[in-house]
Amino acid sequence: MKNEIFQIDDYIFQKKISSKEISKIVSDLANHLRSDYADEEVVYLVVLKGAFIFASDLIRAAGLKCKIHLISASSYGSELKSSGKVELNIQNIDIENENIIIIEDIVDSGRTLKAIIDALQGLRPKSIVSVCLLSKPAERKVNVDVQYIGKEIPSEFVIGYGLDYKEQGRHLQHLYSIKNK
Ligand code: IMP
Ligand code: MG
Repeated sequence: MKNEIFQIDDYIFQKKISSKEISKIVSDLANHLRSDYADEEVVYLVVLKGAFIFASDLIRAAGLKCKIHLISASSYGSELKSSGKVELNIQNIDIENENIIIIEDIVDSGRTLKAIIDALQGLRPKSIVSVCLLSKPAERKVNVDVQYIGKEIPSEFVIGYGLDYKEQGRHLQHLYSIKNK
């Protein structure tokens, strides 16, 4: 079957969430954002690299008046398991009194998102919420509130739609999960 599997090194990834389902998830999230921020301007903080494709669809679907900043965070390196150490790169951004919407691809241990939120608090925004395409609730190691979650998934490694394994697989239209580990 076409596009059902994708291989990276010795790992076989199997199609898990179709692009059609992803579109539905993104449009539901966009509708929530649109109704919650109806007449307000927002500032999106897109967490690179994983969230860039998700963000580009979500931001256009929501249609809110906005500013967009790109920030970067990495905790995974090249491994399938989070390293526990989060490296952040948040350039000088002025978000004082702004409504911040962090756009992230996936919450796993929660450390990345928590590190980002902690770093932003000092910049005195009006509000901060997070929107994540995917969440692995069973993997959570730190307490972090995620106001908008697209879909909860089991503890398995996924690629596609911006998410990578060793920088590969970001271009895939569907989401794939690892089959053999
Ligand atoms: P956390 O800090 O453990 O919550 O990990 C979150 C970050 O790890 C995300 O921003 C992703 O970049 C990456 N990550 C977590 N799980 C996956 C996965 O299944 N596939 C690809 N990247 C992942
Ligand atoms: Mg990421």
